[in-house]
Amino acid sequence: MKIGVVCVSDRCAKGVCEDVSGKLMLELLAPVAEETLYRLVPDERLEIEFALCDLADDQHADVILTTGGTGFAPRDVTPEATNAVIDRAAPGISEAIRMNSLTVTPNAMLSRAVSGIRGKTLIVNLPGSPKAVRESLEVVLPVLPHAVETLSGNTQNCGGNYGK
Ligand code: MTE
Repeated sequence: MKIGVVCVSDRCAKGVCEDVSGKLMLELLAPVAEETLYRLVPDERLEIEFALCDLADDQHADVILTTGGTGFAPRDVTPEATNAVIDRAAPGISEAIRMNSLTVTPNAMLSRAVSGIRGKTLIVNLPGSPKAVRESLEVVLPVLPHAVETLSGNTQNCGGNYGK
């Protein structure tokens, strides 16, 4: 799998702080990704949309995982940028992440994260904290191979025990 990681953070983009969540994501993805691509953008809708489109259309990423900008703060616009570029919504992924995260913290309901498909690329928003990234990846990582397989048109493993 070719996986793009997009860190959305004003502070990290300005160099005020280090992108710990993005780095953690790259580390956790290393065992399952053949290739990882990394982008760091501020909480600007057009810059997020551009990074997503570049990774999906030009770099042909199978999956793009974003971190940050999903909350209620005025500049949190990652879900809006994602909704603007996807062709089809995949709400089950975000529902599953939130369901699992709610068992850890009620603050999980404050994430407005969305998931969807652009062409043959799956885009999934994750919250910004390293803790949330770890808890969310636990849920989403096991289903990624089958998601990518079906996106490419191969439905052979549907209905089997794939991913269990
Ligand atoms: N999800 C998990 N699994 N663990 C967490 O600690 N924190 C929440 C939520 N989702 C959290 C979580 C909090 S405190 C917020 S404000 C929202 O994600 C939005 O985070 P973001 O704006 O950094 O994307």
